Amino acid sequence: MEESKQIEEILKGFQPERENLLPALQAIQEHLGYLSRGAMEQVAHFFHLPPSEIFSIVTFYNQFRRTPPGRHPVHVCLGTACYLMGGDLVLDAFSRELQIKKGDTTEDGAFSLESTACFGCCNVAPVVKINDQIYPKMTSGKVEEVIINLRDKDKTDKNNHDEP
Ligand code: FES
Repeated sequence: MEESKQIEEILKGFQPERENLLPALQAIQEHLGYLSRGAMEQVAHFFHLPPSEIFSIVTFYNQFRRTPPGRHPVHVCLGTACYLMGGDLVLDAFSRELQIKKGDTTEDGAFSLESTACFGCCNVAPVVKINDQIYPKMTSGKVEEVIINLRDKDKTDKNNHDEP
């Protein structure tokens, strides 16, 4: 189904009232993985608001992405336990290694970088989640290896896929 139809379906679950704006944006992002310009315009139209207002809301809140997530979305936990154990340093290391800022996706579409709140496994803080895998007790020193392994896995998958 094309994106605008999917958004239309999601919006059917909401009344066009201001208090529903954030939940509607969250629901669309959860479904599509990000909020495209077209999605924001559609939401603006539905809520009878100027598109510029939706753009500023989406830009203001860290939870919203304006670019599609990478094949390997990196979620670095910055909940209290992880933060105290150096989660912010791990986030900086991913940012340096991938050469992207939080909220961005690498040019090849392989990785995107986000910070999130508690994953509920604080006993192994600091924690990073990539795809569905949890990486416990992460350190800045392990970041490069994690990225190399995922890039290698991509290459192997591609080679297997390309074989006749
Ligand atoms: S604070 Fe990071 S998993 Fe709980």
